[in-house]
Formats: sequence, structure tokens, C-alpha cells
Amino acid sequence: MRRTLALAALCIAGAALTAAPARASGTGGAELDAVHIDLGDRAALQRGAKLFINYCLSCHSASYMRYNRLGRDLGISDELIKKNLLFAGSQAGDLMVTTMPAEDSEKWFGVAPPDLSLTGRSRGAEWLYTYLRSFYIDDGAPSGWNNKLFENVAMPHVLYELQGVQRPVLGAEEEVMEGRLVTVEKIESFELVRPGKLTPAEYDRAVSDLTHYMVYMAEPAQLRRYTVGFWVVVFLLLLLAPAWLLKKEYWKDVR
Ligand code: HEC
Repeated sequence: MRRTLALAALCIAGAALTAAPARASGTGGAELDAVHIDLGDRAALQRGAKLFINYCLSCHSASYMRYNRLGRDLGISDELIKKNLLFAGSQAGDLMVTTMPAEDSEKWFGVAPPDLSLTGRSRGAEWLYTYLRSFYIDDGAPSGWNNKLFENVAMPHVLYELQGVQRPVLGAEEEVMEGRLVTVEKIESFELVRPGKLTPAEYDRAVSDLTHYMVYMAEPAQLRRYTVGFWVVVFLLLLLAPAWLLKKEYWKDVR
């Protein structure tokens, strides 16, 4: 019995370890804001897909994703996809690629906007959620925008109409540099200097929706895996009763 328990504990620990998402470094020591991702929340995924197509696809591709796969997974009909989501000139079976040529975007931004198909996995949900809420106005930056999480980022704040314009509030912090204690200025918080179309709470929800969508997009099979996994567990539990009865029946004669 004890051995079975130990084995079960080992299995659970192993599953927990392999389930931990891969995450690239690069937070620069900045703190990430927590976001709860529930891939069963279809409404959030649908709202996120709409935001992604409207605000991100003009520069970024998501070239592992087809529009109609998205429709199938999120319960959006081909009709609705055609009417509301299709990017200029695309078909429902097309991959979600940007119409912006990479050479042009490189010329404009200095770097080509990376493909976002897998960013939900490589960066992780909390990183994305924090990143999209950390843009601030910066007159010294080429695009006029900077980001607390991704310093000197080449991407402009494309959601500023929704969020509004925020300015950093600086605070002094002591840091050890080359063995000496120095005072450096750090961004402590943000102050909204021009409100956007959404209230701060609504904006947080919109970014959470977008993060939901990007996490789903990085591994669309997750949705199916959850449903299949649930029924597999139900099946195994149902199997338990006949297996136990059968064992009793066999051992009756052995004893
Ligand atoms: C105007 C063009 C443009 C639009 C629109 C745009 N981006 Fe970007 N984005 C960029 C550029 C350029 C970079 C590269 C930044 C760099 O490396 O400095 C980038 C980088 C990123 C990164 C960092 C990727 C990484 O792992 O390093 C993420 C995440 C991202 N964008 C998300 C989004 C999302 C989500 C949207 C839609 C809300 C969006 N972007 C819309 C231009 C754009």
C-alpha cells in the first residue's frame, strides 16, 4: 500500500513538473502582474481573437493559425468569420499572415515584428498581460512610446486609443553598482494623463481577453485536450468498479 502511495505521489509530481509552461527570460527583473487564464471561457477567447485581428495582424503574423480553425475551436461560424474577422482580401482557409512586407516593417521599426503564433508559450501569459499594460509616452523614443517591461521596444502602443496615454511616475531606489551604493530612478507606477475609450478596469479585461487568445493560439490542441482528458478520467473511474469486482471474483478461488 505504502509503495502504491509513493508511486502515485511520484506520478503527480512528474505531471506537475512537465505541465509547467516554458518561459523565456527577459523580464529584466521587473515584476509581472498576475492574470488568471481559463481556456474554457469561450467568450473571452472570442473577444480576444477579435482584438488580435483588429489591432495586431496589421504588423504581426500568426502563421501557424488558420481563420477557420479559429472559428471551429471558438464556435464562430464561417459566415461570421467572413463578415467580422477576415483581414482584407483573405479567405476563411487562409493562414493568419500580415499583409505588411517584412522589408518595409524592418525599415519602419528597425526590427521586423516577430510572428506571434507561439509567443503565448515562449513569453507566458503573465509577461504578455504585463507587457500590453506597460506602454508609456516617451518623447525620446523613435515611436514616441516606451515600455517598462521591454525597454526601448520598437513597437508603438497600438492599444492607446483603448487604454489612453500613461506617464511614468518615477521613484528613487538604491542599488549596488560596481561595489558602490547609488541612487537610480525607477518607474514606480503609471499615471493616466489622457483617458482612453475604456476605463482602466475595462482595459485590463480587454488585455486579459487578448492574453487568453494568445495562450490558446500557441497551442490550439489545449482546448481539445481538456475535453478529451475529462472523459478519459470519467471512463477510468467507471472502469474501476468492474475491475475491482473482477479482482474479487478471481482471488476468491486463489485464497
Ligand atoms: C505598428 C506595428 C505593430 C503592431 C500593430 C503591433 N506590434 Fe507588436 N511588435 C512590433 C514590433 C516592431 C515589435 C518588435 C519590438 C522589438 O523587438 O523591439 C513587436 C513586438 C511584440 C512583442 C514582443 C515579442 C517578443 O517575444 O519579443 C509582442 C508580445 C507583441 N509585439 C504583441 C503585439 C500585440 C498583442 C499586438 C496587438 C495588440 C501588437 N503586437 C501589435 C510592431 C507592432
